[in-house]
Amino acid sequence: MLELEQFVADCRAALSADEPHGAIREVVARAVSEPSTVLRAVGEPRRAELRKIYRSGDLTILNVVWAPGMTLLPHDHRMWAVIGIYMEAVSARALSEKDSAPLGHQVIHSVTNPIPRLTGAIHVYGGDFYGVPRSEWDPETLLEQPSDGERTMRRFEEANALYAKH
Ligand SMILES: [Fe+2]
Repeated sequence: MLELEQFVADCRAALSADEPHGAIREVVARAVSEPSTVLRAVGEPRRAELRKIYRSGDLTILNVVWAPGMTLLPHDHRMWAVIGIYMEAVSARALSEKDSAPLGHQVIHSVTNPIPRLTGAIHVYGGDFYGVPRSEWDPETLLEQPSDGERTMRRFEEANALYAKH
């Protein structure tokens, strides 16, 4: 049974491996291979959210729930990351339930939840996700701008407002 405290401890232990990114990926993959235990630990997703589970100078763990159709601006992290999906409807394979994916330091990416249901994922970052200035890119003009945490949280609330009308 996955306890969040145990998961955090496993991630912290993996940080001291020779290849922390790969070791964390194994921890996340093991966790999301049993989605029901992750759901018990983080709670059944009811709305879009970005919730902090753990934060330190060298590790950040978030629970992220994506609303149906929700899209985030292209952005970077400036630290490696592992994303593990523990809840998703049926197929649509890109990142599906039980999948985990590693992301390198410099990868610029956006996120779309293409399915008409909530998607839940554990995000583990190899650094202080909140303490590093990052960038976003306008999807039309491709202009780089500083990433803005409040703007991101507004996107989650806008997505919830739309979701509530379903
Ligand atoms: Fe991201």
